[in-house]
Amino acid sequence: MHKDIERVLFRDDEIQARILELGAAIAKDYEGKNPVMIAVLKGSFVFMADLVRAMDLPCQIEFLGVSSYGSKSETTGAVRITRDLEGDIEDRHVIVVEDILDSGLTLNYLLGYLQSRQPKSMEICALLDKPERRRVEVSPRYTGFTIPDAFVVGYGLDFAERYRNLPYIGVLKPEVYQ
Ligand code: PRP
Repeated sequence: MHKDIERVLFRDDEIQARILELGAAIAKDYEGKNPVMIAVLKGSFVFMADLVRAMDLPCQIEFLGVSSYGSKSETTGAVRITRDLEGDIEDRHVIVVEDILDSGLTLNYLLGYLQSRQPKSMEICALLDKPERRRVEVSPRYTGFTIPDAFVVGYGLDFAERYRNLPYIGVLKPEVYQ
């Protein structure tokens, strides 16, 4: 285990097992629908790669680059689009793929942004959900794990751009970020 990690929340094999279930559920629900999978960068790049390989289903892959305005604690929920979609989502079934759902402000904003492009349907698949922190109502159709309010990193999630490449999800030691 990395020296900055206090404890492992989900091992690599636990994450993969849950993603197989999510992929199977999506493949069943979207059979014959060729959904557009939109990964919200950067955190979701690892999850997206494993999720789409767990789906026995034709799908289109898209990436949306976003950056929060200001610091996390004082965010208004407005996000800046740093990299837009390449493909058209009008009249398509869309699944927004997120690594973590926290206050909900990012997804709330993004759903409005994407809705203006008139998809046929839009759902959320979030690997981690921290419902205790929610400030606006956002309901993912697919959730990997519900977690307590702890500072988690790894498997795509960072602190100051570090730890994204850890293969597991762990709780960061408080002395690292305090
Ligand atoms: C994380 C995560 C979501 C957002 C969730 O992104 O990927 O986009 O925070 O938080 P919220 O529900 O409170 O809005 P982050 O801003 O850390 O950027 P990153 O994905 O590039 O690491």
